Amino acid sequence: MQTNFLVIGSGISGLNFALHAANKGHVTVITKKKIAETNTNYAQGGIAAVLSKNDNPEKHIKDTLEAGDYHNNKKAVRFMVEKGPEAITRLVALGVEFEKEQDSSGKKNLKSPLSLTREGGHGNRRIAFVGDHTGLEIEQILVKRIKEHPNIEVLENTFAVDLIKRGNKIYGAKIITRKNRIDNVFADATILATGGAGQVFKYTTNPSIATGDGVAMAARAGAKLKDLEFIQFHPTALAKPTPRRLLLSEALRGEGARLYNSKGKRFTKELETRNKVAKALYEELKEGPVFLSISHRSAQFIRKRFPSIYKALRKHKFDLTKDQVPVTPVAHYTCGGVRTDLKGRTNLKNLYAFGEVTYTGVHGANRLASNSLLEAVVFSNQILENIKPLRKTHAFTFLHEKLNTSPELKKSAAQIRKQAQNIMWKHCGIVRTQDSLHQGITEMQNLRKELTKLNRTNISRDLYETKNIVETGLLILKAAKKRRKSLGCHFIE
Ligand code: FAD
Ligand code: SIN
Repeated sequence: MQTNFLVIGSGISGLNFALHAANKGHVTVITKKKIAETNTNYAQGGIAAVLSKNDNPEKHIKDTLEAGDYHNNKKAVRFMVEKGPEAITRLVALGVEFEKEQDSSGKKNLKSPLSLTREGGHGNRRIAFVGDHTGLEIEQILVKRIKEHPNIEVLENTFAVDLIKRGNKIYGAKIITRKNRIDNVFADATILATGGAGQVFKYTTNPSIATGDGVAMAARAGAKLKDLEFIQFHPTALAKPTPRRLLLSEALRGEGARLYNSKGKRFTKELETRNKVAKALYEELKEGPVFLSISHRSAQFIRKRFPSIYKALRKHKFDLTKDQVPVTPVAHYTCGGVRTDLKGRTNLKNLYAFGEVTYTGVHGANRLASNSLLEAVVFSNQILENIKPLRKTHAFTFLHEKLNTSPELKKSAAQIRKQAQNIMWKHCGIVRTQDSLHQGITEMQNLRKELTKLNRTNISRDLYETKNIVETGLLILKAAKKRRKSLGCHFIE
């Protein structure tokens, strides 16, 4: 297969980029499950930007730097914040209907200002939202626009295995197709938009797609990575074991929800930055369960403002309008990743990256709430210039391996994946120690050896996802071990 732009990933960053790029050439988007199965789809709180008269870019920059423990790249932060309003305008132009304020007669119209909510670390109300399902709304609109575009082809259930590299250049990716065939896609520009790595950990808010594939692929190809130790744990996931932990959005706290310990006492400022609240919960959970409650607000308000969370909690027999809900921190966001410049360029020629897979420098050591969707749109609002058509790239091929879809291999891969997730949770969780990180690295290296034995002659999608979890996990562990002092969301005892 041959295309101008190969976009790996169909979340907000991949799809937004694809829509721009389609005006310049043919775009192929590959995505490993159904198009909408992305982290984007589950985003709840909203998207931050300077949108009100009481706010200004300097304030947003200050909050982003404070949350990031001043480890951020200031130039990148300014770039993102100043382009924030433009990013919202783009989403609105595509069709995203953010909540609006009513006028004095109780009506909303095209000119009504957007309603803004608040989350931890923000000194102002500056988060545009759609109920408690902002990501779903954005993803659905983007998918609609993508499907309408004649220059964009989407290949669902198509798994990118590795980047195709010659010298310092990337020529596309090796894939496993929907029909379980190994193939190559050659491209003038390859774009990693593969999202995060929450699934590297045992407990996470992230859906099953978030296995760190982009980071692992980029590392195997020799791309530069940065700051992988900064894994953000979200303080308030439902404390019930489900494959993807149900998130209770920080916007609940932005609208007044409180945290109580097992003695019924409040123990932290609810709108501190996420790393601090997660750490406070970690300490408090040693004494007993912790609960989130918003029952002092009216039932009507709660059901209208947080309909999806209200419904999801009902399935677990909790009534958000009345009950205190048990919560716990879980892995949520990968602050570091593939290093890019402001144009999304990596150190490898023809390889670009956008969204959660990247390190752009904007988040520093701890991301400010709702800056992720913003980063994804601002950076992927880029139109690449000077892309030269490839010369006969299909002269080389990388189809040596055989596909193995046997149940035995699937089972072994699943077992190793589980062990890797346990190692990460035990040794690289909310609070880390040098000894424990050392132990984690040894255990993960042993798992990698086991994997190598399995995949010498076989490849399969399950095996590669597991390999990506193990390799990304190892990179995170090693980065964490190198950082000997606590910073942002990396707490080391
Ligand atoms: P994603 O949306 O995760 O998309 C990644 C894509 O890559 C998927 O299509 C996936 O299938 C594909 N992919 C991955 N590997 C491969 C492969 N090997 N081959 C083919 N395809 C592949 N951020 C905010 O700013 N505000 C919020 O309110 C907010 N709430 C959140 C709530 C939850 C529950 C979660 C999990 C995250 C939240 N975030 C929020 C974070 C934000 O949603 C993500 O950081 C952002 O959506 C990432 O977008 P993305 O385009 O980089 O990746
Ligand atoms: C949330 O709604 O709490 C998640 C927001 C984010 O990850 O930025």
